[in-house]
Amino acid sequence: MSTATSSPITVTLTGAGGQIGYALLFRIAAGELLGPNVTVRLKLLEIPAGIAGAEGAALELQDGAFPLLDSVNVTDSAAAAFDGTNVALLVGSRPRGPGMERADLLAANGAIFGPQGAAINEHAASDIRVVVVGNPANTNALIAQAHAPDVPRERFTALTRLDHNRALGQLSAKLGIPVRDMDGVTIWGNHSATQYPDVSHATAGGTPVRDLVDDAWLANEFIPRVANRGAEIIEVRGSSSVGSAASATVDHVFDWVNGQRGRWTSVALPSDGSYGVPEGLVSSFPAESVDGKWRIVQGLELNAFSTSRIAASVAELATEREQVQGLGLL
Ligand code: NAD
Ligand code: LMR
Repeated sequence: MSTATSSPITVTLTGAGGQIGYALLFRIAAGELLGPNVTVRLKLLEIPAGIAGAEGAALELQDGAFPLLDSVNVTDSAAAAFDGTNVALLVGSRPRGPGMERADLLAANGAIFGPQGAAINEHAASDIRVVVVGNPANTNALIAQAHAPDVPRERFTALTRLDHNRALGQLSAKLGIPVRDMDGVTIWGNHSATQYPDVSHATAGGTPVRDLVDDAWLANEFIPRVANRGAEIIEVRGSSSVGSAASATVDHVFDWVNGQRGRWTSVALPSDGSYGVPEGLVSSFPAESVDGKWRIVQGLELNAFSTSRIAASVAELATEREQVQGLGLL
């Protein structure tokens, strides 16, 4: 039985009438996004075609009688949706289908994120935290951030926690060690097939992962499996991941607010130049949550393989930035 102790937090979810939105809403209402004592006001943003789905979900939320849920508003106005928002979950956008890469969605989805960034800049609460889930997530976050000049840029993040969790899942299956006993995994770069899932500093049950697996398994099985898992899910279930994406979004925000378990997690953040990633690109890093702020973990040694893998993914992010500049979205 929860005892509400906070004043309500306003959470805005875009794409609330879609698949991930539906999976997220009930976890938010149950208190899993922010904690079991935090009351929530939900604002659901949809385009007109998706409003009925969001309204249906709102009826079900009412029927759930969630003690932590203060109110639910559905709107197609970004200004109304981001008014007073403390936490923005930017999910609304088109998913890719079989045979597409996430970057193929740049032209279709990029245009969504400038106006939403501007609405956040204008209307959100001063402690706004943003996570972009809609693909291509890193570059969409860059677009949104660029339209919100009054918001500290590190408040704009993109989701690579799903990739991080996938890496934990693959290691656990290989080693027969539960994910709770894993630590120090990192996803670097883009939420795309070029990402670099890195176990150089990871431990499993206290033992360095590098002592438990060989280079061939890492290079030929683990890295491609994690990096291409989104495509594998699309292939097997016919549409992109939903429950795992919602769960990773919950993990991302919960840890941002409450602190992560273990040494660090993976978060795509505007680069401050750390590890040679050009300033401003929204790239995944090892990050720890300190006093409610993400901080890039510094000083990790990178071997030649890691350096080249990170550089390849960062090069792709730089290309995406050029593309959206070319499209007039930045
Ligand atoms: P979906 O098609 O089921 O739902 C998307 C919803 O967004 C729809 O209801 C649509 O009406 C709405 N929408 C479109 N434009 C909007 C706008 N401008 N404002 C508000 N809402 C808008 O798709 P889904 O399966 O929920 O996936 C959503 C996005 O999340 C996709 O881009 C997908 O690729 C991405 N995704 C990212 C990750 C990740 O790890 N970063 C994981 C899974 C999926
Ligand atoms: C995922 O990683 O599952 C999502 O980004 C969806 C996709 O297109 O792969």
